[in-house]
Amino acid sequence: MKIFTAIKDIQTEILKQKSLGKSIGFVPTMGFLHEGHLTLINKARQANDIVVLSIFVNPLQFGPNEDFSTYPRDFERDSALAESEKVDFLFCPSVEEMYPNEPSIKVIVQERTDVLCGKSRPGHFDGVVTVVSKLFHIIMPTRAYFGKKDAQQVAVIEGLISDLNFPIELIAVDIVREKDGLAKSSRNVFLLPEERQQAVVLYKSLNAAKAAIDQGERNSSRLMGIIQEMITSESNGKIDYVEILTYPRLMPLEKLEGRIIIALAVKFTTVRLIDNFIVDID
Ligand code: PAJ
Repeated sequence: MKIFTAIKDIQTEILKQKSLGKSIGFVPTMGFLHEGHLTLINKARQANDIVVLSIFVNPLQFGPNEDFSTYPRDFERDSALAESEKVDFLFCPSVEEMYPNEPSIKVIVQERTDVLCGKSRPGHFDGVVTVVSKLFHIIMPTRAYFGKKDAQQVAVIEGLISDLNFPIELIAVDIVREKDGLAKSSRNVFLLPEERQQAVVLYKSLNAAKAAIDQGERNSSRLMGIIQEMITSESNGKIDYVEILTYPRLMPLEKLEGRIIIALAVKFTTVRLIDNFIVDID
């Protein structure tokens, strides 16, 4: 595995590989790797000649009161994991390398950000699409791998690829969960022990909503009610949002039909957790 910190160096290497006709699979991350990330790497490994992993905690996508400085970091462990997953190139630039000056250009998301995490994290998705655009230009991947855990991010990146004509295939990968159903996340390490136990209610409440759908419930307010009640009664977490929207357009709907997303975010003492189910209604 080759490790790169300079944009110019990895770009030169990628251009060389592309001139040899190699396909490039790209997994962008902020590090502190867990099985969710490793699953993306694995999918990339199966379908591409070269696998590139990036680790960059992107300051642009964190709000002023968010956890940029405390976001977990462990480069030694991450690079050992990347190596054992047979990553070819690990790209881990510094903030100065990625943003040597105040950016003169930012990519702004126009749609799909007034809901879910976009609503509670203003500017977050502008930061995501700005860094992902830069990374796409640097890595020039054939395929890019994103997790459905961040389903709104997948929807926004679909818009980015299509609106800005990136010749990249987006591969969306299913959510990887702990044994009890909690979606894996780099931030789970910050849950207090009793919060870790309570956090399973996110998955449990999504399952309860899905069970109600399977029994014929089609009213989105009632379904959101089921979820809210379960989270409130079984945890000390504070609900940030529970929403049911069309997917991937993320439009509100009262009566469920077509492909929908049931998504939620819950704040514990120092961690905000998200989860979702994407469901096809027949
Ligand atoms: P990060 O949170 O590190 O996640 C990197 C990728 O791993 C994302 O595509 C995310 O959806 C995926 N992922 C995280 N947990 C997962 C899980 N439990 N199951 C499946 N996939 C999972 O998302 C980001 O970083 C950043 O916003 C980034 C795209 C790198 C831009 O800075």
